[in-house]
Amino acid sequence: MIGVFDSGMGGLTAIKQIVKMMPHEDIIYFGDTGRVPYGTRSKETIIKYSCQDVRFLLSKGVDAILIACGTVSANAIEILRSEFSVPIFGVVEAAAEKACELTENGKVGIIGTNATVKSGAYVKHIESVRPDIETVSTPCPLFVPLVENGFTDPEDRITYLTAERYLEDIKRFGADALILGCTHYPIIAPVISKVLPGVSLVNTGAEAAKRLFENITPGGGNGKIEYYVSDDINSFKSAASIYLEMPVGDNVFKVDIEKY
Ligand code: DGL
Repeated sequence: MIGVFDSGMGGLTAIKQIVKMMPHEDIIYFGDTGRVPYGTRSKETIIKYSCQDVRFLLSKGVDAILIACGTVSANAIEILRSEFSVPIFGVVEAAAEKACELTENGKVGIIGTNATVKSGAYVKHIESVRPDIETVSTPCPLFVPLVENGFTDPEDRITYLTAERYLEDIKRFGADALILGCTHYPIIAPVISKVLPGVSLVNTGAEAAKRLFENITPGGGNGKIEYYVSDDINSFKSAASIYLEMPVGDNVFKVDIEKY
């Protein structure tokens, strides 16, 4: 059984891919909807929250954990790996390597939360595998509340104008590959593509799920997915069913994450 967590809905981008590759795997998903966003918080707070998230997933008996969150992967993965003995996978390496594969002109754009861009984690990994690649990074903090509040329609004007403003530097730089360094961002990928036509987008959640698949032996369960959130279950239920294109039904539960 795999545990997957994010600060909110973003980790569903990984769930979608896991279900495609491992349809029989049982999954416990935790979205910290009561404390989202993580990306505007200090490293100490991100570490504290993510330790609680991992403890909760372990209490459910998971055998491996996927951090389906760029912010936590970029700021807390070493600490989580040293604190907990279960295998823990993040999104940074898989996504950075995919961007190196996709770029033809050697220019990669990176977008993420404030905390992710500040950490420099994607840039460091790209430099370690392909030092010839140039990068430009831009924080896009308003994308997370837009997604969490349902401004996800490809025709949405507010999301388009926000993207146009945030992506100016990356457009000018001429990147031909863009790492959507926060797992919320693939949910508005059609809008991002309108602003940056022809640029290959890297879905971090999906790439991390592929990496997980290469590294674990599927548990052979019944394909049961339970979703846990730290705030209202109804808003999560409707948004998750639309995004995943499958009903999440009565499998959404509320958890008091502060207890962990
Ligand atoms: N989906 C998350 C990430 O990948 C979290 C964004 C946030 O909570 O600010 O960074």
